[in-house]
Parts: sequence; C-alpha cells; structure tokens
Amino acid sequence: MRKLFLATAALATLGVTSAAIGASHAEKNPAVEARQSLMHLYAFHLGPLGAMAKGDMEYDAEMATVAATNLASLAALNQMALWPEGTDNESIEGTRALPAIWEEGSDIGQIVGDLQTATAALAETAGDGVEAVRAGLGPVGGACGACHKAYRASN
Ligand code: HEC
Repeated sequence: MRKLFLATAALATLGVTSAAIGASHAEKNPAVEARQSLMHLYAFHLGPLGAMAKGDMEYDAEMATVAATNLASLAALNQMALWPEGTDNESIEGTRALPAIWEEGSDIGQIVGDLQTATAALAETAGDGVEAVRAGLGPVGGACGACHKAYRASN
C-alpha cells in the first residue's frame, strides 16, 4: 500500500513538472520540439562544412572532422520516439511534418539511412582537405533536401 502511494506521489510530481515545462514552451508537443532541436543541431554542424566548401571559411581539418563526426553521431540516433503518430501538421499546431511520413509507402526510414551513410562517409574524409569536404557534402545535403521535399511543409 505504502509502495503504491509512493509511486503515485512520484507520478504526481512528474505530472506537475512536465506541465510546467509544457507551459513555458507554449504547450509545444515535446516530440516535435525534440525533433526540431535535432534538425537545428544538424544545421549547426553542417554550417562550417558548407562555409568551408564554398570558400567562405578557411579550411580547417580539425574543425571539419569534428563537425562531420558530430553530424554522423546525430544521424545515428534512434529517432523512433521523435515521430509519434498524430504529430503531423494536419493534426496539431507547431509542426511542418507532413502526414505522408506516417502513410503507407513512406520512405522516410530509407532517407534516414541515406543520411547515416553519407554522414559516416563524410566523417571519414572531412580531414583530407576541402575537396573531400565538397565531395562528401553532396550526398549529405541530398538526404536533407530529399526528406524536406517529400515530408516537410514548405511554410
Ligand atoms: C528523414 C527526414 C529528414 C531529414 C533526413 C532531415 N530533415 Fe530537417 N526536417 C524534416 C522535417 C519533417 C521537418 C519538420 C519538423 C517539424 O516541424 O516537426 C524538418 C525541419 C528542419 C528544420 C527546421 C526546424 C524547425 O525549428 O522548424 C531545419 C533547420 C532542418 N530540418 C535541417 C535539416 C538538415 C540540415 C538536415 C540534414 C543534415 C535535415 N534537416 C535532414 C525532415 C528531415
């Protein structure tokens, strides 16, 4: 009995805490917030690599390797919990995720796999010079773009 009470009390505490967190973020769905945060981390690490490739930033082998390695680690995360059903842009506010993600024939898993392959390859070669960064970035940007085109609302 006492055990049950403690468990209930703990749950109530958790409830209060998550309600407080929710309110401070204008009630945004936590999974939506988490996947948008992941996207920002992708973009943050892609930034210096893109700038080096374009010649806007001087090539730095260590910085390129760190950025590409982080990108590969991020892409390797298991994203199951970030995309729960019912969190598309027709069902809730605050997301640009299209319902097609959850529909039959969705190849979103395949695209995540492509991003993993491309970022792992880039992490291996990013330290080899700016040409290697340029070559490796193509398939990475291709995977980001393919997924956005198919599964992200444009507004
Ligand atoms: C497997 C599909 C997929 C891949 C791969 C992908 N994205 Fe996204 N991205 C999305 C979807 C869907 C959204 C909209 C998410 C939402 O609003 O819930 C999004 C949103 C974003 C956003 C906006 C986040 C916000 O706060 O609204 C940025 C920035 C972004 N992606 C960058 C990237 C970059 C950079 C890459 C590649 C390194 C990438 N994405 C790879 C599907 C993908």
